[in-house]
Amino acid sequence: MVSHRFAPPIYDPQDLGRDRDRVCKSVLRTMMGKTVEKPRGLRDIAARFEGGVDSWSKIAVPGLYELYESYLRELTDRPITLLELGVHGGASLKTFASYFPNGKIIGVDIKGDELDFAGFPNIFFAYGDQRKAEELDAICAAHAPDGLDVIIDDASHYGTWSLGSYNALFPHLKQGGLYFIEDWTTGYWDDWPDGSRLQTFLGARDAEPPGRRIPSHDFGMVGLVKYLIEEVASGWIRPVMTVPDHRPLRMETMHVYKQVVVLRKARIDADAHPHSSPTERFQWGLAQEKSLGSKNADAAAHAAALARVHVELGRLAHEAEWERAAAARLSTALAAREEELEAMKNSTSWRITGPVRLAGNALALLTRPLGRALGRSPGRNE
Ligand SMILES: C[S@@+](CC[C@H](N)C(=O)[O-])C[C@H]1O[C@@H](n2cnc3c(N)ncnc32)[C@H](O)[C@@H]1O
Repeated sequence: MVSHRFAPPIYDPQDLGRDRDRVCKSVLRTMMGKTVEKPRGLRDIAARFEGGVDSWSKIAVPGLYELYESYLRELTDRPITLLELGVHGGASLKTFASYFPNGKIIGVDIKGDELDFAGFPNIFFAYGDQRKAEELDAICAAHAPDGLDVIIDDASHYGTWSLGSYNALFPHLKQGGLYFIEDWTTGYWDDWPDGSRLQTFLGARDAEPPGRRIPSHDFGMVGLVKYLIEEVASGWIRPVMTVPDHRPLRMETMHVYKQVVVLRKARIDADAHPHSSPTERFQWGLAQEKSLGSKNADAAAHAAALARVHVELGRLAHEAEWERAAAARLSTALAAREEELEAMKNSTSWRITGPVRLAGNALALLTRPLGRALGRSPGRNE
């Protein structure tokens, strides 16, 4: 059966000889009901917006766009919501906006006066600081009330700042959503504000029993990546092997590439909420995470108070140590004086002058009342 929708165009067979390619394409276009195009790759799209000279550009990082594409390809035509922290000139936002024509692309940066997204109706720019959870919360509430499908952190590349935005944004990520963290290897750079050249630690070979800890390079973004391993293990983190842990699983997978780290958020068991819609399940998950967040904040406040007490204890212990040292110095000096005095008493001259001192003391005893009678105040040598 030939569908009317796919009715071939009218053409003169003689044309085939003259302009075969054009006619074949025309037939194909009509049969497929859409324009036949070369498959669009992220790198090809990015090349329209990104120059090779900008050191911030993703296109300058070999393999990065290909990695993104391996995760995002299946979402291309979906009405996804993507948020990127760190916009710079806006090239990556334009790339994603073109790659997801049905998607909503949100860019967040502390700067952005020069940005121009004319011709990109699916890009939304918002001023926001990745360190400020309340700003990120407000942006998500305004632009992504049903949650985010994809989050990209390409902002400061400082470990603690990125951890702050991770804590703020992860609750807004939908179950099964993707969280990309770029440029984590800045943590290995000596000249990056929170980086450091690689610190290596050699394990003791014959340690018996096994050494309990392996110290590890944990500077800046590298520290963040190592911190995130605990997020992958959550749900399996328990005080001892036999006690189950009831914390919810946060992460399904964590893939670490040299260019980027990719986290996939755990999916909540839909059977546990059989009657709820995806939006309701997202809101439920968000509420759970918020309450977990406030418990974490309480725990952090307690830890901070405890740390302050430890600092004070340390200061007091230091003072006590100082006082002990001063007392020890005084008692050494006293012992030396006593020794000197003893030696002086035992010396010949002390014994010879002994009667004179006795007479002097006796004379003082006698003259003291006389002095009082004459109204003189007692002098030192009386
Ligand atoms: C690497 S560039 C972003 C490049 C862009 N994503 C691209 O691929 O074309 C980093 C951006 O992060 C922004 N940034 C730095 N610190 C930030 C912060 N605390 N909060 C939000 N954005 C920040 C900078 O202003 C800069 O525009």
